[in-house]
Amino acid sequence: MLRLAVLLLLAAAPASAEIVSGSSFLSPEMRRQQEDETRNPGFFWVEQGQELFSRRPEAGGEACIGCHAAPQRSLRGAAATYPKLVSERLMNLEGRIEQCRVERQKQPAFGYESPELLALTAYIASLSRGLPMDVAIDGPARPFYEAGRAFFERRQGQLNLSCRHCHDGLVGQKLRGDTISRGASTGYPAYRLEWNSVGSLHRRLRACSLGVRATQFEAGGPEYLALELYLAGRARGLPVETPAMRR
Ligand code: HEC
Ligand code: HEC
Repeated sequence: MLRLAVLLLLAAAPASAEIVSGSSFLSPEMRRQQEDETRNPGFFWVEQGQELFSRRPEAGGEACIGCHAAPQRSLRGAAATYPKLVSERLMNLEGRIEQCRVERQKQPAFGYESPELLALTAYIASLSRGLPMDVAIDGPARPFYEAGRAFFERRQGQLNLSCRHCHDGLVGQKLRGDTISRGASTGYPAYRLEWNSVGSLHRRLRACSLGVRATQFEAGGPEYLALELYLAGRARGLPVETPAMRR
């Protein structure tokens, strides 16, 4: 905590507006590992997702691929546009997949952070690798984006810190062995060594909330969805990198 207090004294006015990917803060070796499909464990999850996408549910119902033929083409770019409003509801990719699971496959929801949902999300996001993040933040999405921004800028928790304090003000500083990045969402679901697994963006957000002793919101709930839209809006134009690797 003392260390954080010292860091905060260093927190200058928000740094330049340019948002860079969290991958820019990885060690060169880890960055090479991330780019190497045979060495990045996230790709194992992508393969699992691809397999699940083609498989009919045991209890019956259509396989995803039954309705989404040639996903390499038909779903390429889709992930880059989430979160987005679907029938007036803000949905991220996980939510959209669950919607198809329940309404079109007629199966029980996988559940947030379940291995199945993580694998499918990682697979579909990986189909957008290299394409620029392209969420809509105007029109009906605007109020959600603004709610996300307000969350990002609000001081919270026992440490009374906003997301912005760290991810705009302390970028490049070390904190508990990590280098603080701009908090870009471009690599999620990401394989994190500390988790020994792939995890969702909302899992990462819960870790940041806990880090400042603030309320941890439910993964998939409205607070983190709005925050996800704001983060995606900040990262607009950066390439999708799922599955990223993180410490
Ligand atoms: C006390 C400083 C601190 C605060 C406050 C904080 N974070 Fe973080 N955050 C970190 C650290 C450290 C990491 C891990 C290193 C990194 O990727 O930046 C991290 C990681 C992240 C990442 C993953 C970035 C990537 O490329 O993998 C996102 C997204 C993020 N934070 C968003 C937020 C949001 C949104 C909030 C506010 C709810 C927040 N953080 C509050 C320190 C903080
Ligand atoms: C019975 C047909 C059907 C099945 C089965 C199905 N989907 Fe869908 N899916 C659709 C239709 C139709 C849409 C788009 C229509 C809409 O707006 O609801 C859609 C939309 C989507 C989208 C949003 C695409 C975009 O461009 O934004 C994703 C992602 C998706 N489905 C993933 C899946 C996954 C993963 C599965 C398997 C768990 C699945 N779907 C199963 C019919 C299906």
